[in-house]
Amino acid sequence: MMSENNQINHMKEYKVINESNFSKIEEKLLRELRSELVDLAISSGDDFNLNEKAFFQDIKNFLDLKLPLNSIETNNGDNLNYVSDESISKRNIYINNLSNKFFQEITGYGSLDPLIKDDDLEEIMVIGVNKPVFVYHRNLGMMETNLRFKKEEDILTLIDTIARQINRRIDQESPILDCRLLDGSRVNATISPISADGPSLTIRKFKKDPLTIVDLIKLKTMTIELGAFFWLCIDGLGVKPANIIISGGTSSGKTTTLNSLANFINPRERIISIEDTLELQINHKHLLRMETRPKNIEHKGELTMDDLVKNALRQRPDRIIVGEVRGQEAIILFTALNTGHSGFGTLHANSSRETITRLINHPMNVPKIMISAIDLIIMENRIYRSDGVSIRRITEVSEVVGIEEDNIQLNKIFNWNPKTDEIKNIGITSKTLRDISETRGISMQEIEKEISDRKILLNYLLKNNLRSNNTIGEIFQRYYHNKDEVLDEIKFN
Ligand SMILES: Nc1ncnc2c1ncn2[C@@H]1O[C@H](COP(=O)(O)OP(=O)(O)OP(=O)(O)O)[C@@H](O)[C@H]1O
Ligand SMILES: [Mg+2]
Repeated sequence: MMSENNQINHMKEYKVINESNFSKIEEKLLRELRSELVDLAISSGDDFNLNEKAFFQDIKNFLDLKLPLNSIETNNGDNLNYVSDESISKRNIYINNLSNKFFQEITGYGSLDPLIKDDDLEEIMVIGVNKPVFVYHRNLGMMETNLRFKKEEDILTLIDTIARQINRRIDQESPILDCRLLDGSRVNATISPISADGPSLTIRKFKKDPLTIVDLIKLKTMTIELGAFFWLCIDGLGVKPANIIISGGTSSGKTTTLNSLANFINPRERIISIEDTLELQINHKHLLRMETRPKNIEHKGELTMDDLVKNALRQRPDRIIVGEVRGQEAIILFTALNTGHSGFGTLHANSSRETITRLINHPMNVPKIMISAIDLIIMENRIYRSDGVSIRRITEVSEVVGIEEDNIQLNKIFNWNPKTDEIKNIGITSKTLRDISETRGISMQEIEKEISDRKILLNYLLKNNLRSNNTIGEIFQRYYHNKDEVLDEIKFN
């Protein structure tokens, strides 16, 4: 349906062939239907909420009323696609099909639909009237599409449709819409007077098929060595599972890395995840997902991250995963980490030092003494190459080793070299591994042996392109259950 080719202006082009070619009569009907819908929304005030089944029936009734019993046939392509002298059922089939298409048009994303459906796109950007719609392609970077909105009204209708889907509104009074679609994609829309050149719309798409640890290694975000190291730290050989903060800038891939690392968690564990808006895609049998709730119109009923972390502690979790650590919930999270629970979280910061600074200052205010509960800080970065395509790299792994003279001591153990595009162990022995070896009562050689076994397994997954969440999950589960059997099998494959 789409093709990509290089243009002279150096901007790659993304071509969309619009499939919904309505006839002129159909287009007119759709416009009429739309305006009726707007009336309905206005008359029902704040409670307007689409009942899909009833709405579909409404469309059918509308078409039944509007369409002549006998077909209109004209020569200029404006004809309706049913023929009168055949049976009445032909008309019914036509109405049903058209209702479906209209339903899609109105509740879907109209001309943006093909873009929304393409899992290779990371972002869709509408920047105004009569300007190309831009997309950010996962492999090709920024691209210009052949789509343009010719009328301001069309962009507004689209933004309105999106807002309505999640029961929100955008208008002069609140000209910014910042929300998440039902499929998990993030949307930010603005209308005048906020956006000078007409309405804007930015959709950060949710990847339906999430990237797994195997993908991340293939993409060079991390290496097999790093993957095996993380795996051992995360399960801690059952005695000392590591606490990890994944840190980085906006859209650097923190949440994706968190998801993929969660695959390493022993299936025996009970995980509780806590998020502002559900976004994590963790593949684990025993997972309890919690989401915060905003206050209602009477300013009541709010449940914050803080409330949910507190509550999670009463639910006897082995591991608490906080989607994004940013507020006062951090203190309770760190209290939990300091009292024998283990946890993961992402945090917005540009270096491991800044991660600490943000944690100990307002609004998180975590007491310094509690910071040592963190075992690893993983820094991730989005780096733009000269061709405009971005890559994501884990650029640093640091350990919190203690406090000296009121300063929190960090040890960098892995570092990324931008020249060689490689992340390597710096040569310092990991405190996390040493802790595991001591708690478990085994030597560092044995720890190294375990890491190298896990490397063999990761290498096998990579070589055979066993990348899906389910496959990986199953193999890891078997590894936990009977490691030797799995390794033997691999040898013969
Ligand atoms: N290692 C990677 N390689 C390529 N693409 C990636 C990688 N990690 C994430 N992505 C893609 O980048 C986008 C942003 O990823 P993600 O949501 O994980 O980032 P984030 O740092 O959590 O963002 P935010 O700052 O909004 O929380 C997604 O479309 C995701 O599929
Ligand atoms: Mg995130």
